[in-house]
Amino acid sequence: PAGRRPLIAGNWKMNGLKREALALADALLAGAGGAGGRGELLVCPPATLLALVGERLKGSAIHLGAQDCHPKPSGAHTGDIAAPMLADLGCRFVIVGHSERRADHGESDALVKAKAEAARAARLIPILCVGETLAVRDRGDALAVVAAQLAASLPAGADGETLVVAYEPVWAIGTGRTPTTADIGAMHQALRAELKRHMGTEAERTRILYGGSVKGSNAAEILAVPGVDGALVGGASLKADEFLAIAQASR
Ligand code: G3P
Repeated sequence: PAGRRPLIAGNWKMNGLKREALALADALLAGAGGAGGRGELLVCPPATLLALVGERLKGSAIHLGAQDCHPKPSGAHTGDIAAPMLADLGCRFVIVGHSERRADHGESDALVKAKAEAARAARLIPILCVGETLAVRDRGDALAVVAAQLAASLPAGADGETLVVAYEPVWAIGTGRTPTTADIGAMHQALRAELKRHMGTEAERTRILYGGSVKGSNAAEILAVPGVDGALVGGASLKADEFLAIAQASR
């Protein structure tokens, strides 16, 4: 679609100790070559594993990404991690505004925007997450609410190479439930229209991923939806065969 290469991203969330992480990385390395599929592969381990997994993936076709960053480049922020530190470890991408962080840590659109801008300043590609709750979906407001969330959290100055958007309906995360392909298609169209208002023609080059209960068995159907440029995968990214099956499904 418009030359946008699909991105298949694994968000490991708060999972994995060293041994499991290396076993997973090795299984992905072993399978990635033969996986087929047109997609670019990315794994986002927890911060504690970035250096280890990054070393293992070095020189391979699998990119490294982080799950969050601080809006400032350095300073007195105990326990936080700045975008330049992630770049220093070999990260190419960083997830910002995941709904779990918006919920668990009360992250606002303004904070998410600042994080996305910090990521870009460190030459990382932010994967900016947006998505509606079930209550919003049920009252029929999903398209408008999610487009507004995108507008409010979009980093300044991004182009199609330096931004990825991920649509993750909150009610589809980790639940085994997914929207219909028609609903996914409508949302991706609405998000691209919103991007166009802010980025003009660059919107056509910007990848918009779908996330929420993607697995090997539903990936082909979801990735075939017009306007879906890849997947952000949680649970299924912890199993090499599932993640590779999703990669295989990317056309
Ligand atoms: O960021 C990916 C995620 O939130 C989706 O999780 O477990 O439903 O694939 P899962």
